[in-house]
Amino acid sequence: MLIPVILAGGSGTRLWPLSRAHYPKQFLSLTEEKTMLQATIARLADMDTGTPIILCNETNRFLVAEQLREYGQLGQIILEPVSRNTAPAIALAALAAQAEHSDPLLLVLAADHVIQDPLAFQQVLTAAIPAASSGKFVTFGIVPTCPHTGYGYIKQGKPLDDGYRVSQFVEKPDQATAQDYLNTGGYLWNSGMFMFRASRYLKELAQHRPAIYEVCQAAFQNSREDLDFIRIQNDIFSQCPDESIDYAVMEHTTDSVVFPLDAGWSDIGSWSSLWDIHPKDENGNAVIGDALLHESQNSLVYSEHRLIATIGLDNMVVVDTKDAILIARKDKVQDVKTVVEQLKAHG
Ligand code: GDD
Ligand code: MG
Repeated sequence: MLIPVILAGGSGTRLWPLSRAHYPKQFLSLTEEKTMLQATIARLADMDTGTPIILCNETNRFLVAEQLREYGQLGQIILEPVSRNTAPAIALAALAAQAEHSDPLLLVLAADHVIQDPLAFQQVLTAAIPAASSGKFVTFGIVPTCPHTGYGYIKQGKPLDDGYRVSQFVEKPDQATAQDYLNTGGYLWNSGMFMFRASRYLKELAQHRPAIYEVCQAAFQNSREDLDFIRIQNDIFSQCPDESIDYAVMEHTTDSVVFPLDAGWSDIGSWSSLWDIHPKDENGNAVIGDALLHESQNSLVYSEHRLIATIGLDNMVVVDTKDAILIARKDKVQDVKTVVEQLKAHG
């Protein structure tokens, strides 16, 4: 049984002011009518999978339940009382899946990805099932196009199980190292999607991060069902170290396989990545909402409620929401995160 595990607990701060703590980006419709969470589920429609497990922060529980209901999808929703990143979240999913099935295969997906060719995506997933079933740790790799420092890098080794052995995994290297990898060749970006048996993940976690494993075990054992939700015990879970699967497990596991994925994948991590994938006018502008652009180019303009007019913009991002406006140079939008931190500090 293949169980989709959808990670929907991130805060998506780099898409501020659209993405907020109470309404993070995975619950928004950014590139199509469906929200990113709904699209994540929709692209598995032709695959034979069990009921998906969705993990999110407790604050977003009604958003998740409503978006599943709207889409007519059943789901097991696990609520994290505090965010402790993806290594603990996946452990909770593995424990919940094991409670229902006999050592199921988990397909871990992020809820903030766009995949333009779902058919090609499904083919690669299907090809990876035998390797994952046999106990391998499967990752999906993307051919890198720039020295992006927000991704994990996978060094592709010898062919193995229809994929390639992972000979090295480095999470979020610095710019110089990423550039080095690109120059050397043979590296793929980690797409942030994984496939493995629940038992395999828990075993690796217990080996490399026993503290996370133990806290998650205890927090899950003390969780309680509440309507459609599984509520994870707060006092225990808040003791959990905060770490992503990439640092906690992927950098240490020695038995992983990468399947290259060429399916129009992107992580909508920032405004510039939304500009990258959005259809553009003849001047390279991506316009979402009501806007009139005069002598402007290579810019992204997003308007929620009113008309925006621009004159002479070049490589800019303008985002207008009800209570906040962002105006930034497109090559500087990673710093939105810093601005949001400053806003938080000011209350
Ligand atoms: N449930 C839950 N709880 N989900 C979480 C949490 C958490 O505490 N933290 C993050 N997530 C979700 C996010 O909503 C997103 O869907 C997914 O987990 C990945 O988290 P990100 O914070 O977006 O990770 P990233 O983009 O910086 O890095 C990961 O993805 C890259 C590709 O997009 C890594 O796996 C990189 O190696 C990878 O290249
Ligand atoms: Mg991401």
